[in-house]
Amino acid sequence: MSKAIDDFHLLSSKQRAFLLNDEEVLTDLVKTNMSQKRFKHSLAVAKLAKELARYHHVDEKKAYIAGILHDVAKELPIEEQNEYLRYYDFMKLGEPDKVKHSHVAKYYLKDKLNFHDKDILNAIYNHTVLKVNDKLSLIIYVADKRDETRGIDDEVIEVAKKDLKKAVNLLIEKWKAKKQYKDGTYQGSDN
Ligand SMILES: [Fe+2]
Ligand SMILES: [Fe+2]
Repeated sequence: MSKAIDDFHLLSSKQRAFLLNDEEVLTDLVKTNMSQKRFKHSLAVAKLAKELARYHHVDEKKAYIAGILHDVAKELPIEEQNEYLRYYDFMKLGEPDKVKHSHVAKYYLKDKLNFHDKDILNAIYNHTVLKVNDKLSLIIYVADKRDETRGIDDEVIEVAKKDLKKAVNLLIEKWKAKKQYKDGTYQGSDN
């Protein structure tokens, strides 16, 4: 993992709090910590999340930050992801590997960045398997599945601007139709 994130703990708590509250700094930090492809996706998710937040009177800054950070653990080796889950969230060890990074991110961000915003961590934690109903989580869930890098041009974003739950149900229906949905859990490949 990148030096930038690994060295973050060396800063004072005041410095950390200041940096974590700045969209540009966070974006830069994320950029140093993942592949170009993943970064482009994260940035697109952050922007779409911010747009959707505006429609639903959700804190736009929180939406951006949740979006930019949502896949921060996705490129950690699976052994390292399992290590986090073994220590912090044992029950999630049985989840499919593709899902684990959403749970791991919560502990990774607390651990590495001393990041503790409950709303944002909750939205990130639930971005693969949605088990909550708060607006920010719904926004991140939808934005992750329809950011512009995916090149999917359908009605989901327009629906989401009006009704987030309806957009989530629509996404789930589409996956069911593709038979990617097993046992009530999305098993898709790239979220
Ligand atoms: Fe993800
Ligand atoms: Fe993602």
